[in-house]
Amino acid sequence: MQELENIVSDAEHAFKAVRTLPELDQVKARFLGKQGVLSELRKGLAKVSAEERPILGARFNSLKTEIESLLERRKHDINTEALQKRLDNEKIDVTLPGRKQSLGGLHPVTRTLNRVTDLFSTMGFSVASGPEIEDDYYNFTSLNQPEDHPARSMHDTFYLEGEQHLLRTHTSPIQIRYMEEHEPPIRIVAPGRVYRVDSDATHSPMFHQIEGLWVDDRATFADLKGTVREFLRRFFENDDLEVRFRPSYFPFTEPSAEIDMTFKDGWLEIGGCGMVHPKVLRNVNIDTERFQGFAFGMGLDRLAMLRYGVSDLRLFFENDLRFLSQFSD
Ligand code: DAH
Repeated sequence: MQELENIVSDAEHAFKAVRTLPELDQVKARFLGKQGVLSELRKGLAKVSAEERPILGARFNSLKTEIESLLERRKHDINTEALQKRLDNEKIDVTLPGRKQSLGGLHPVTRTLNRVTDLFSTMGFSVASGPEIEDDYYNFTSLNQPEDHPARSMHDTFYLEGEQHLLRTHTSPIQIRYMEEHEPPIRIVAPGRVYRVDSDATHSPMFHQIEGLWVDDRATFADLKGTVREFLRRFFENDDLEVRFRPSYFPFTEPSAEIDMTFKDGWLEIGGCGMVHPKVLRNVNIDTERFQGFAFGMGLDRLAMLRYGVSDLRLFFENDLRFLSQFSD
């Protein structure tokens, strides 16, 4: 009998000594398994006398139940300990500062574009846009560059299959599209992407321009000069900035000029301009006896490079976040 009591306390100790369920399973096998201590005991029962057998049998059964309930208790304790440990490890420190979601920022060219259109709208211009895929008529012919016109070759055009369509080489076709739909007085700026077969540190096959157009019954070259100069002074926040209009040639303007501005010790070309050619006005059925106007086109990327001090145009289009994130607030 004493031996039986020892079995219970042995089992209790053995169960207490293990910390994990797999370990507990092994110990369980030692006591309750097929070749375990209890099975051996049961075999022994067969040998005792018929009188003793019921007493010992009952004792055996209660012993077994006791060991089983010790086992269950230990199993439960191990599970609770494991849970407690997990809860301790997963504890959330609510006093820690939150993790900030990093926000995207506007591309420097987009920021420049917004700034430019904002400035022009304070000067009474509204914003227009047009398609990037154009046809020959809007990109060239309507702008007084018929098919054999040498100025077409200045543009290095990307033609789409079939050569019916092309990627616009400048924002000037928006002038035509807008004038087809609107009567003078017209005062618009039209920013957008343009495309040319060209690629080096200062040229990208895709770049941005902003077109300006002012048509009414008395818009003069003096207005053109004042508008462009005022815009550039505001854009660069420099009242001493000088602007020079250098005679040039564009098919859609007469007279035409390049716009240069003071930069460091010299002049820097920033765009082209002129008085809208009467042929262009006639192409959109505007009465040239009553109306006249001026137009200009400037490189937006060039403006962005100057404002931010970026020396390689390609940086704008490589999408390197180390570069781009410097421009967001
Ligand atoms: N479209 C010209 C270009 O891309 C720029 C330009 C020149 C636009 C004179 C104009 C203009 O509106 O009047 O080279």
